[in-house]
Amino acid sequence: MLRKVTILVVLFLGLVIQASAQQQMLIGNPAGRNATSLNGNWQIIIDPYETGYYDYRYQPRPDGYFKNQKPATPGDLVEYDFDSSQQLLVPGDWNSQDDKLLFYEGTIWYKKTFNYQRKDHSRLFVYFGGANYLSDVYLNGENLGRHEGGFTPFNFEITKLVREKDNYLVVKVDNKRRRDAVPTLNTDWWNYGGLTREVSLIDVPETFIQDYFIQLKKGTSDEIDGWVKLNGAAANQTVNIEIPEAGVRQSVTTDSTGNAPVKFKAKLDLWSPDHPRLYSVKLSVGNDVVSDRIGFRSIETRGPDILLNGKPIFLRGISVHEESPRGGRAHGPDDARTLLTWAKELGCNFVRLAHYPHDESMTKMADELGVLVWSEIPVYWTILWDNPETFENARNQLGESISRDKNRAAIILWSVANETPVGDARTKFLKGLIDYARSLDSTRLLTAANERHYSDPQTQVVDDPLGEYLDVLGCNEYVGWYDGLPAKADGLTWKVTLNKPLVISEFGGDALFGRHGDKSVRWTEEYQKDVYEHQIAMLRKIPSLRGMSPWILTDFRSPRRPLPGIQDFYNRKGLISSRGERKQAFFVLQKFYKELNSEGK
Ligand code: GCU
Repeated sequence: MLRKVTILVVLFLGLVIQASAQQQMLIGNPAGRNATSLNGNWQIIIDPYETGYYDYRYQPRPDGYFKNQKPATPGDLVEYDFDSSQQLLVPGDWNSQDDKLLFYEGTIWYKKTFNYQRKDHSRLFVYFGGANYLSDVYLNGENLGRHEGGFTPFNFEITKLVREKDNYLVVKVDNKRRRDAVPTLNTDWWNYGGLTREVSLIDVPETFIQDYFIQLKKGTSDEIDGWVKLNGAAANQTVNIEIPEAGVRQSVTTDSTGNAPVKFKAKLDLWSPDHPRLYSVKLSVGNDVVSDRIGFRSIETRGPDILLNGKPIFLRGISVHEESPRGGRAHGPDDARTLLTWAKELGCNFVRLAHYPHDESMTKMADELGVLVWSEIPVYWTILWDNPETFENARNQLGESISRDKNRAAIILWSVANETPVGDARTKFLKGLIDYARSLDSTRLLTAANERHYSDPQTQVVDDPLGEYLDVLGCNEYVGWYDGLPAKADGLTWKVTLNKPLVISEFGGDALFGRHGDKSVRWTEEYQKDVYEHQIAMLRKIPSLRGMSPWILTDFRSPRRPLPGIQDFYNRKGLISSRGERKQAFFVLQKFYKELNSEGK
């Protein structure tokens, strides 16, 4: 009976994965494979009218810029030329690399030429860590496919198209905002466009390990419960799973679909923020090998408690946007280490990565440094709840995010939304996402950053109907900034209707670093400090409070913030300025987290 259930589960996983075949199945953990980077300078063509894609009748043209054409004769008319065009760095957004592109929203064509000596009996994929927002990818003039979503990876097989010399990879990236998209038209972050994350070539044998899930079974400390999936001649293959430091050497045999459940007992040193133990894990089949560094921990809830490895934990957190200390979209291990080190300096054991999946180097760095993670997809404010394409898009982004990060011990929470309006269509939409996430990963907790309302002027109520389907209740509130003055918090009480852990996922206020004055004066550091002091005093009285991630670690660019001399298109709610300076409120939160830590929280 158990064996039948297991086979059904694995088959179902295969089906779920098949569902996203329109973008080819994601290859898990490209960094753990034989990969060639295509990062560096790429030629670009800025194309606001999409002349490289549409003809004057606005019909897709067969001879678009993806053909990378050159005049064959002096008489030939070709009105573009990548090779004498401007260059931009990849990974990197275009807005912060060129002042004339700071506010640019539209299409930019990227082109990279490369040579590649492909070995016999090997296959080749091109892998994108992420590109904002809509990407059409071509190799040597052939369309490979399209990807929608600015913050999740995608890949295409190019085995049959690649040649030894002068391959030209062309990507049309369009970051135009659309009402039906995810996110939709209005957000409070900069719409950084471009090939914002790494691009690489992944060289694998004809049969290779497409993906794997190696994590502890929920609620256990010694039972691995996962799976492995092959691509190629995948049936009846023996896959080895080795964790040398734990004395593990297991083999499993794949079924006709190339899937195999991975179940075994192991004596493991559990991962936690105080002890971020990672194990080298090696998976191999034939001459394909994938290596990874994985931590093992369990995460659950029990009533209002969050249990990490069976013990209650308080999430001392901060929200973080993917904004680099160098300016622009953050990417790569250096930016990740800087931002997480700042969070740890605050006394954090937790970060809310807002409002979209951050670069993989951020979640891997969180594994290394021991920082728990709330990961979110950009279902933000008011998207089109009744639109099936919008749902499919959100679902796909969620699937790609979970697929990429499912082996990261640091990630404990999948968040499906931020500040969405209570309503039946919305709740149905989000319930659909929650169910999908649970079908892909039964080991983590589901949450969302919801809002609260007043039942009377002194009582804030957390009773969003979505809470019923969540494991952890997230709640954003801005008492002292959008809602009254800081001292208003003193007279407020909280009513949380469900017996579940509450995480205050946002609170805060703006301050321009170096602007000083009486604490009653907005935009001063003293005002922001006052907001934090009153907030902390109010929040620590809430019985079911099990965490917080104040808004926000650093100031970040936002097109919604034009106030001259103060905002200048920055949201100034950071505890650290856009130049890395700590504001007074930074030290208020640091002191509070030190106290909690000394109380064993
Ligand atoms: C909102 C929202 C954030 C925004 C913040 C603010 O709650 O979730 O994305 O930046 O408030 O207004 O500063």
